[in-house]
Formats: sequence, structure tokens, C-alpha cells
Amino acid sequence: MSQLKSYPPSDEFVAAANIKSRQEYDTLYTQAQEDAAAFWGSLAEKQLSWFKPFTQTLDWQAPFAKWFVGGKINVSYNCLDRHLETDRKDKPALIFEGEPGDERIITYAELHRLVCRLATVLKNLGYQAGDRAVIYMPMIPELAISLLACARLGITHSVVFGGFSAEALKARTLDLDAQLVITADGGWRRGKEVRLKDAVDESLHDCPNVRHVLTYKRTNSAIAMKDGRDVWWHEQDASLDATRESTQAAETCPAVELDSEHPLFVLYTSGTTGKPKGILHTTAGYLLGAQMTMKWVFDLQEKDIYWCTADIGWVTGHSYVVYGPLAAGATSVIYEGAPDFPAFDRLWDIVERRKVSVFYTSPTAIRALIRQGNHWPEAHNLSSLRLLGSVGEPINPAAWEWYHSVIGGNRCPIVDTWWQTETGSIMISPLPGVVTLKPGSATLPLPGVVVDIVDAHGRPAGNNREGFLIIKQPWPSMIRNIWGDPERFKEQYWSRVPGAYFTGDAARRDDEGFYWVLGRVDDVMNVSGHRLSTMEVESALVHHKAVAEAAVVGKPHEITGQAVCAFVTLKKGDWDKASLEKELRQWIAHEIGPFARPDEIRFTEALPKTRSGKIMRRLLREIVTNNAVAGDVTTLEDLSVLSHLAALHDED
Ligand code: WT7
Repeated sequence: MSQLKSYPPSDEFVAAANIKSRQEYDTLYTQAQEDAAAFWGSLAEKQLSWFKPFTQTLDWQAPFAKWFVGGKINVSYNCLDRHLETDRKDKPALIFEGEPGDERIITYAELHRLVCRLATVLKNLGYQAGDRAVIYMPMIPELAISLLACARLGITHSVVFGGFSAEALKARTLDLDAQLVITADGGWRRGKEVRLKDAVDESLHDCPNVRHVLTYKRTNSAIAMKDGRDVWWHEQDASLDATRESTQAAETCPAVELDSEHPLFVLYTSGTTGKPKGILHTTAGYLLGAQMTMKWVFDLQEKDIYWCTADIGWVTGHSYVVYGPLAAGATSVIYEGAPDFPAFDRLWDIVERRKVSVFYTSPTAIRALIRQGNHWPEAHNLSSLRLLGSVGEPINPAAWEWYHSVIGGNRCPIVDTWWQTETGSIMISPLPGVVTLKPGSATLPLPGVVVDIVDAHGRPAGNNREGFLIIKQPWPSMIRNIWGDPERFKEQYWSRVPGAYFTGDAARRDDEGFYWVLGRVDDVMNVSGHRLSTMEVESALVHHKAVAEAAVVGKPHEITGQAVCAFVTLKKGDWDKASLEKELRQWIAHEIGPFARPDEIRFTEALPKTRSGKIMRRLLREIVTNNAVAGDVTTLEDLSVLSHLAALHDED
């Protein structure tokens, strides 16, 4: 790694940065390490607005944490109301650009008004703190408004990414036992309508506890509305204006004083079984993590135009499109559609026109755009950019260099941010005014984050050794539980290394203490920066009438990092393999969502198994990986050889 270039921050960047020196970082880090409770307690007190102060910073009954015990607070109040008493009142909170080219600029005062109106609608429909809402919407301001209105009342929300199918939506709605679904007729993607309400209708056949489907009109297309269940957002909203007094009451709907540990949201993510896990985040600690990292990592300044391209359906969108930026008083850009529509410069066009200064995206997006050629970004003035970010998977040095020179004009630091749905906010990342960057390394843990690398026995691995990445101290934005499954929570995250949180990632630390995250160590794939479990795809495949057995592995992919590769054995029958392959890919889109569609399906007579019958995915991984390099498909595809191998090298 020593031949890699490194990039110290420029004097100009440092001069204006929130944190300017290694010494400042070291002081913060040491303070946090020596007395974590005092460190986080004082930040929470100063940086958040409380209805009632907390009395205890941390109650740690490992692995169950309660942060800021006794405090009363509201996330929506912290994202909106408190800014209205400042100059931020008329500052744009959201800059929205729809895929067809429509736009809206929503100030903090206006966003507050819209959130209050929706909260009143929800109240009028009978919802209150403790209820649960599933949100399935396109990337439009009303998605952010829905999150904030739920948070205002204490309704626990679960956003389901619009790319998930009706089946996946149903599984989540049932697991959460939601009473309310908020959706839209559809949204725009690559010029086509994604019909969301149709999927909601299909998902609700077996969800008797859902009382209402609140539906926003976005695409204006014909949809079915079920009497007594489905209500239009705009009709409910209009009904608030019966009198001047009623309008005023609706627009000042007070934020409910909630417990610090009130469940803010549940976000489903893939685990190592076929069933997604509902990651539970609560109120005050999550908010503190999201807000502080805006200042530390994104070096947020009052005049920044900040754009995180993630969909709000993923945790990155929760923390860095909605809650973090708004809590920090930033202007957050929301774009509805695809990055290549109508052309490959859509992102750069938005950066130029909106004068985006901080830009946060994924390695997958960067690689996809590299392939289209430099003339797309070069046709735009990107000089407003001052800081770039990357998230979702390790960024390969070549993509890093391109991002740095072609997009950042060799002027903008890149923050490579490592974190997870479970961590709630960024854990390992350079502070851009402090750290000398090494392409491919997420560099150093943030203040208050104590990480280590351990071997298979849980012993510290030391420097320059590959091992498991763990987090050794509780932190405010940490996962609190798996919704409805505390046993899985304990087993999954806290049983491998006693007392420590197991991330599921492999990593290495170099001699300077920099972390290099290598990837997952479990049966979880990372496709375009989205987590997908091999088991989930396998169990969907074996649901199909033609499939006897299936084994799924991630194979290296130039753009998406990993792609789904499925090995399938068929039931007896006369199958037309070409059309079956198409059908199975479509089947996965139906069962999980289009983004989970296998890149490749290989029909095989048998799967390599151990004597005890366990599929040896490791061998399959080797096959798909080496194929990609050697291109020799014919001999490797002969899986009877592999079964033979498997018998010789029994792994169990
Ligand atoms: C997994 C978490 C929260 C970010 C969006 C994905 C991988 C994420 C990095 C990075 C190397 C990374 C890890 C992690 N990952 N960021 N900067 N460098 N790997 O959230 O779906 O919860 O996935 O994404 O493997 O465990 P997620």
C-alpha cells in the first residue's frame, strides 16, 4: 500500500474547516475515550433542544442501551421548530428536483407548515405515539414530510424502498404490524412510472391490521381506491381548511414530548437468514449521531448546499438526506429519479445549477458514471463543490482518483464513510480538515467510536492483520434491538466477541491506525451498496415451481461491486432453460424487488455439498470469482467435479 498516493487537506480547506487540526481531533477522541458518558452527555445537552433534560446519560445493560434517560425530546422539533427562531427560518431546507424537471424550494418555515399539516391529518385519522406506519413513496418532498410528521407524533415509521416488490412490502408491513401505510400513486424513474399504489394494494391482501392507506398524488395515473381504507392526501389536507382557526391549528400542530428512547423508526435490512431484520432506532441518541456527523464529517457550514444522492428508503437517506441535514439546519437536495436520465450528466447538471458544495454518493454510482466518459462532467461547471463523500462499500482507488480529479478538480477532500444501518450514523471516516487521505481507506474512527480488529477467537489482531471489525463501546446512535426479536439481536451482534458489537465486516488497520474495510464476512452480498442476503434470494428461488435447490453467491462486478449469481438445480421436467432463466429473474424481481434480480443463473445437475449436506458456498464463490478472471467456464461449470472435491475437503 505504500506506493499509494496520499492527500493532505489543502491550507484553504483547513482554514475554513470546523475541525482544523489533528490535535483538535486527538483531544476530542481522548475525551470521549476517557469518559464517554461525559463526552456524549455534554454534546446532547448543548446540541439538542430538550423539553425536559435527561438525568442519566447511559444505562447500559449489555447489549441493551438506554441513552439520555429521563429526557423528553422530539426529532421533528429539532429538525424544524428550533430553526424558526433563527435566521434559518427562510433558508431553503429542501431543494427538490423531480425527474421530469419540476422543482420546488421549501424553506424551513414552509417545511414546518407542511409537516404540521400532515401531522394533523394523521391525528385526525386517529394515529398517535406508539402506532406504526409503513412509508412507500418516491423520492419527493412528501417522503421527507411523512417521516417528519410521524416523528412529530411519535408514530414509528418504516420506510420501504420503492424498488422493493409487493411481496417484500407485505413481509415488512406484517412484521412491523403497521396500522397505516403512506404511499403515492407512483413516481418517475427513467421516464417511466413506478406504480407504487398498485404494489401496496397487492401487499395488503393479508394485512388485516392496516386501517388506512394515505395516498399522495404524484403521477396522476389511474389507481384503485378502496372504500373505507384508502384516502387521498390532498383531500385530507384540504379538509383542514374549514375555518381560518382550523387552518391555524393544523399549521401549528405541536411536537409531542417523547421519551429519549421512543422508537423513531425501524428499517429492514438483510441478514444471514431468509427473513429481513427490523433494525430499531430510537429518538435522542440517533438524532445526536446524525447531527454531530454532519458537522464533523461533512464539515457543514451555514451556506452549504448539501446533496446526498441516496434514496430515503435506505439508512443513508434517513440519516443524511433527512434527519442529519435538517437537525443541523442545512439545505438538503432531493432528486427523484435516475442519475442517467435524460442523459449521463443529470447529477452534474444539478450540481452546477444548484451550486452544490457538499456531494455524497456511492462507489457504484461513481463507477457507472466513469464508464460514460469524462465529457459528461467536463461539460459542467463543478466549481461550487468543496467536499465529496463516498459510502456503501469500499471505494477502489481508481474510482477514488477519478472522483477526486474529474469531479473534485483536485480541490475537494473525499470522506470515505464507513457505517451500517445498525450504527445509525457514520463511525469511521476522515475529518476532512484533519486527515491525510489514502484512497480506499475510511481512515480513523470518529470521536466516541472505539473500534478494533480481532481474530477468530476474539483476540486483538494487531496492526496489518486482516480480522473482524468490532465496536467496543456503546454509542448514542446504535441499534437498540431487532424489532420483535431480541434473541436474534443478541445472537447476531453480541455473541461473537463478548461485550463487543460484531459488525460482520472484515478489516485491517495499518501502522498509522488507518482502517481498511474489506467487506462482509457473512453470507450477505453488497450489490450497488445495498445489502442483500444470499439466503433471501435462495428462499425466493426455491419457491418457484421449477426449482429444486438453489445456492446464491455474490460475484465481483465492475460497476455494482457484487452481482447476484444463482446456481439452480431443477425439478424433473422438460424445461426450456432460456425462457426459464428469464422467468426466474422476473420471479426474483417479483418476490424481492428488481434490484435483487440475479445477474447470472447457472443451471446445474448438483450443488457442491459437504457430507452433512451443507452447500459449500465458498467453492461457488471461488468459481464465480475465478471465472471472472480466467474466463474458463467450461471445466469449472462441471459441478460433479466439485462435489467430488467437497467430499475430499469436508468442511464441517
Ligand atoms: C455495509 C452496511 C450505511 C451505509 C450504507 C449501507 C459496507 C458501507 C462502507 C465503506 C467499506 C462499507 C459494509 C457495511 N460499507 N460503507 N465506506 N467502506 N464498506 O448500509 O446496507 O447497512 O450496509 O456496507 O460492508 O457493513 P448497509
